[in-house]
Amino acid sequence: MDQDTLKRSAAQAALDLITGEFGRETVVGVGTGSTANYFIDLLAAHKHQFDAAVASSDATQKRLEGHGIRVLSTNAVSEIAAYVDGADEINPARELIKGGGGALTREKIVAASSNRFICIADASKRVPVLGAFPLPVEVIPMARGLVARKLAGIGGEPIWRDGFVTDNGNHILDVHGLRIEEPAKLEAYINNLVGAVCNGVFAAQAADIVVLASADGVELIGQ
Ligand code: 5RP
Repeated sequence: MDQDTLKRSAAQAALDLITGEFGRETVVGVGTGSTANYFIDLLAAHKHQFDAAVASSDATQKRLEGHGIRVLSTNAVSEIAAYVDGADEINPARELIKGGGGALTREKIVAASSNRFICIADASKRVPVLGAFPLPVEVIPMARGLVARKLAGIGGEPIWRDGFVTDNGNHILDVHGLRIEEPAKLEAYINNLVGAVCNGVFAAQAADIVVLASADGVELIGQ
């Protein structure tokens, strides 16, 4: 089974988890990336059963609106029923690396604003220890060198994602060579670096449910 089929299966299973809760006031948080795009396309068929979506990136907002789904800002909603998004790596504790698409800051904000975070992925994203995927760190442009030196100081090899500007007008450092044994500790350490806006470790708030699709079927982890 190809990876796209698996991504779509995970997206469908996540949709099946939440459609029963849809009501006239339901707001759904929607992530960014190829797996999230499958979710958006499937969600479109249900657009009359919920109120609106909150998007984690400009690209996601555009895709949602292209389907005629109403999009609200996080500041305009008091409750988001569920946030559905992909991940770059997932460990057994449902801790994640995210931000391959560069949307990590808004993704973390929408995840933190939601009642539950449902992570959707194909089984290639499952790892025993986070870190083989380079960890994205969003930085204020003038602090890029400063933050890079701090990250090198803890054994990482930060590479500037040259030419890429986030939806927030910032830069991304992709940090190679980390073996992340204590994700929450690293997340907090990077959060404290002056000039770092956000990092792609999702451990302080891990996924509540991981929906993982493989050739053997769809596994719900944490359910
Ligand atoms: C974007 C993300 C994505 O969720 C992550 O990169 C996974 O993407 P895909 O579903 O395309 O594999 O964090 O910032």
